[in-house]
Amino acid sequence: MTYSLTTPLYYVNAKPHLGSTYTTIACDALARFQRLEGNSVVFITGVDEHGQKIQRTAESQHISPQDHCDLISSQYSQLWTEWGISNDRFVRTTSDRHLPLVQEFFRRCEAAGHIRTGHQEGWYCVDCEEFKDDPADAESPDCPIHRKPLEWRDEENLFFCLSQFQEQIESLIAQPGFIAPSSRKREVENFVAGGLRDFSISRVNVSWGLPVPGHPGHTFYVWFDALLGYLTALLDDGGPVDLERLASIGWPADVHVIGKDILRFHAVYWPAMLLSAGLPVPKRVFGHGFLTREGQKMGKSLGNVLDPEHLLQQCGTDAVRWYLLRDIQFGEDGDFQQQRFLDLVNNDLANTIGNLLNRTSSMSRKWFDESLPVDVDAVRSTHVLRDKAEQTASVVRRSIQDLAFHKACEAVLQLAIDANGFLNEQAPWSRMKQPGQEQQVGEDLYAVLECARYVGILLQPIVPDLSARILSQLNLAPTQTAWIKALTWGQLTPGGSLPKPEPVMQRLELDAPL
Ligand code: MSP
Repeated sequence: MTYSLTTPLYYVNAKPHLGSTYTTIACDALARFQRLEGNSVVFITGVDEHGQKIQRTAESQHISPQDHCDLISSQYSQLWTEWGISNDRFVRTTSDRHLPLVQEFFRRCEAAGHIRTGHQEGWYCVDCEEFKDDPADAESPDCPIHRKPLEWRDEENLFFCLSQFQEQIESLIAQPGFIAPSSRKREVENFVAGGLRDFSISRVNVSWGLPVPGHPGHTFYVWFDALLGYLTALLDDGGPVDLERLASIGWPADVHVIGKDILRFHAVYWPAMLLSAGLPVPKRVFGHGFLTREGQKMGKSLGNVLDPEHLLQQCGTDAVRWYLLRDIQFGEDGDFQQQRFLDLVNNDLANTIGNLLNRTSSMSRKWFDESLPVDVDAVRSTHVLRDKAEQTASVVRRSIQDLAFHKACEAVLQLAIDANGFLNEQAPWSRMKQPGQEQQVGEDLYAVLECARYVGILLQPIVPDLSARILSQLNLAPTQTAWIKALTWGQLTPGGSLPKPEPVMQRLELDAPL
């Protein structure tokens, strides 16, 4: 089965920030998970390069918009490589393939009778690239998100007849699971219940955009062009840019993962556009929350922006991925707190998981000829830790399927805690001193190392590098194909050699604030 998922296409007005890194890490975990589930995955990310915001940024830097876009786009793709992001596509809306797709899509909407000319006036936020709902008589309103003055616009544009989709959109958003998490549904319902209004899809005063065919002087509204980037990305498989091919290569998307601020575009405007063009709508739109830092909104003016590049250099991917995915309920807002970050990484990864593996493997090597115990048939069929490991695997699989990464992380951690607890109760270090206890000790150590193997495998989508280090301490390689077989109890080879233990996770110490 093909599973396709997308991050938003990030604006190239500035270099990547922690917000975009957060979404991309979450999608990466989901993509890796779906591959391990045996699906053929198309993981799409990319950049949104047109519009007034980008045009102005380039002007302020005194470079051409294209040069500006080339520079920032390469920073994005470079950063994702450094973070080990496993995206299958990286789409740029300035790519040659994108224009014909946007134009073909537009012609479909036009032929369906859903495009008209009209007059648009209202308050516009260039940073959001969106008309705001503020009352027309407001004197100098600010954008509630960017806290910057809105600009008054009064222009003749091409409109997309969203109003014709009222009923279809109402029934779409009522479908269970279409908008996730369900707590985000109400906001969209209220917006739709207020009556859908046609929205303008072209601009006459923005030169940095794609030309609208048959309407000289008009460029496409950046959101119309950007959403279609998802389709361009999917079609970028070596084949032609042809909307007819979409159904066979992974459309509709299984999930668009986005921030809560752009839910309306994805759950209302985008499905209506697709319906107009005779294409299926995405299966799910997941709106995650916003990250703050030590309780404050991150912003240049506050000087508290966390640079993902710096974070990566200082702390490494595993620590950051673990913290973001384990500590924040995906869907809710989250706060990046440095002390908590250090505590969780050191307690969970270095102490609980790292020590479990290290001490168990050391004991096994010491007493069983630098290997796993041999005589362990009984444990390989039934054991109290077997039930726990198997339950953990099913919780992890169910949770990541639902993008509840924190539940998956907690379950894996709990398995390590339980295995550590079991070890402490059995106290093999004391038993080994008693005659006739070697068999029991061997069985206990094997069971605990099996749990460590489960931990290693189950951490693969969440913290792939750490997972690989754990598995290599058990003389295993990361699972390349479906993980279902690896998630059966008793896979460690009795008597198999164990490498010299090394810490799988260094403790994180930071001398200065990040
Ligand atoms: N270009 C549009 C998306 C077009 S999709 C076809 C856009 N880009 S963006 O770069 O401004 O934002 C990308 C995503 O980053 C949004 O989903 C936004 O919610 C998210 N974040 C921006 N700041 C954020 C945080 N502080 N925390 C978490 N995510 C945040 O919108």
